[in-house]
Amino acid sequence: MRRLNVDLADRSYPILIGGGLLARADLILPHLRTQHVALVSNTIVAPLYLDQLARSLVKVGVGVTPIVLPDGESHKNWDSLNLIYDALLAARCDRGTTIVALGGGVVGDLAGFAAATYQRGVSFIQIPTTLLSQVDSSVGGKTGINHPRGKNMVGAFWQPKLVLADTDTLRTLPDRELSAGMAEVIKYGLIRDLPFLEWLEANMDGLMARDGALLAHAIERSCANKAEVVAADEFETAKDGGRALLNLGHTFGHAIETGMGYGEWLHGEGVAAGTMMAIELSHRLGWLSVADVDRIRALFVRARLPVTGPALGAARYLELMSHDKKVIAGSLRLILLKAPGQAVTVADVAQKEIVAAIESCCRG
Ligand code: NAD
Ligand code: GLY
Repeated sequence: MRRLNVDLADRSYPILIGGGLLARADLILPHLRTQHVALVSNTIVAPLYLDQLARSLVKVGVGVTPIVLPDGESHKNWDSLNLIYDALLAARCDRGTTIVALGGGVVGDLAGFAAATYQRGVSFIQIPTTLLSQVDSSVGGKTGINHPRGKNMVGAFWQPKLVLADTDTLRTLPDRELSAGMAEVIKYGLIRDLPFLEWLEANMDGLMARDGALLAHAIERSCANKAEVVAADEFETAKDGGRALLNLGHTFGHAIETGMGYGEWLHGEGVAAGTMMAIELSHRLGWLSVADVDRIRALFVRARLPVTGPALGAARYLELMSHDKKVIAGSLRLILLKAPGQAVTVADVAQKEIVAAIESCCRG
């Protein structure tokens, strides 16, 4: 088992990564306030893993209230949140209850927001079961739901007490979801870790073939990067750089997800195509060479990710991007690359350059 720490003073917490961890309720026990958890999952993950986890919790004397949500990004909304509140109240969960998220980023974001708000806040544990959630969404405390006008528009920062990533769960993950997670893995190399980017280039074929040791290394390195960034800028308030850099490609990608209707494009797919738009823009600003652009595109292609976005029209992209959470006082801030492994926040990019980058990376 690999162990990392997210260093946030009295709210610090461990990230445990390894095989067979769903059977290790002894690792969860020290992080509970009382011997009761509400186990939030969904209709896909619950039949695969809920019983196994619940059994191991019951064995160490922990009572379990299971809450099973509908699956998918289109359900990351108020209705699902209300299902969680209803079930918590029906089971008379009190402030000592710990909410445990068992699933991908959608379950994690929903359960985390429920934990942040139920009775003004209860303890929360993340048990991520997708590559994307093991390398990104389970770490750092961003929780929330979508609004029809924009991704993740309603939410809260609420750190978990523990992240437990059982790499065995990745065996049942569909290929398309593995690729989607790889987009966020590649992101860490691009924004701040050139040696990791080079390692990914050397090992992408093994990763896509689900080599366990390679995947465990990629998860550990991704979480280490994320933990460092979050510890330095938990609430994303740094003027330049900081946590916002984790959003490389996300302003364009969220526009794709929202513009196409939630669930049509996977989050990681939107991030991949959106990152290529940011890369193209970085090239237009004179920072990346043609060889850099080709190199980055080739890595996404090897991870079987899209490198062009849907033809929504540049005007629609700009309208959707104007809702981005990085917009401050009407000014859009974009994450771009000065070089592979070196991201920056840029506030004053000419609109015609943004439009040109979008148009050169759109299908049709
Ligand atoms: P997801 O939660 O929808 O999971 C993808 C699919 O895989 C779902 O159908 C799910 O039921 C299924 N699944 C999950 N685990 C499985 C397993 N082990 N075997 C088989 N199927 C499994 O999507 P995701 O990619 O995990 O997360 C995307 C979400 O995360 C988006 O809503 C995105 O906005 C959010 N996100 C949040 C943060 C954050 O910091 N909070 C960061 C990145 C992304
Ligand atoms: N996924 C972006 C962040 O956690 O800040």
